[in-house]
Amino acid sequence: MNIILFGPPYAGKGTQSQNIIEKYGLIHLSTGDLLRAEMKEGTELGKSAQKLINDGFLVPDEVVIGMINNKIKSNKHSKGFIFDGFPRTVPQAGALDHLCKENGISINVVIGLTVEKDELTKRAVLRGQTSNRADDKDPVVIGKRIVVYQEETAPVANYYQKKGIYEEVDGMNTIEQVFRDISVILDSVKK
Ligand code: AP5
Repeated sequence: MNIILFGPPYAGKGTQSQNIIEKYGLIHLSTGDLLRAEMKEGTELGKSAQKLINDGFLVPDEVVIGMINNKIKSNKHSKGFIFDGFPRTVPQAGALDHLCKENGISINVVIGLTVEKDELTKRAVLRGQTSNRADDKDPVVIGKRIVVYQEETAPVANYYQKKGIYEEVDGMNTIEQVFRDISVILDSVKK
């Protein structure tokens, strides 16, 4: 089973990914986590991504596509993947189709977490209090990330709606309720 967890910044994708890993044993592929690891190690890729991320912009498509390609290839025999934070543009979605074909896998379902903008900002402020992410600290950057989502990432939902594999979950509910709703979808996909 391969799934995409989709939604705006602070919608709860990382939180729900942890729940899904525990219950379904999938491999978590978070492009945000992979980029932060590169930044921490001080690699050339990390250095080039740092300013874009800290300012709230997306990194170039080819960078994240390359990272995902490596991860799929090195985890070929896993039970499946949770793609978290990828794809974030329509060209990335097209590239993922290509990678799936190349590696003999397919995306079973895309789960879109819906959360209102005011709630995203509230969650951002709360997470910013304990987070060491530079992109969590500045209200201007938080606002920018939400705008970038609306302009560049939201159209990806339509891409998967057209394929008939897009399911929405109300991300305004409690973490536990959101996970129950996700589980209903994943259990029906598994059958
Ligand atoms: P990334 O790390 O992917 O950031 P994101 O998608 O914006 O996701 P977040 O980690 O900010 O939020 P989340 O949805 O995981 O929410 P969380 O579970 O933490 O990307 C960072 C940057 O890297 C991007 O801005 C971009 O520059 C770059 N990048 C990454 N991927 C890229 C790509 N594919 N292409 C180009 N660039 C890319 O929850 C948030 C908070 O809310 C937490 O405190 C949590 O406890 C709380 N919470 C969660 N659920 C609930 C709930 N139901 N009720 C109340 N509180 C909740």
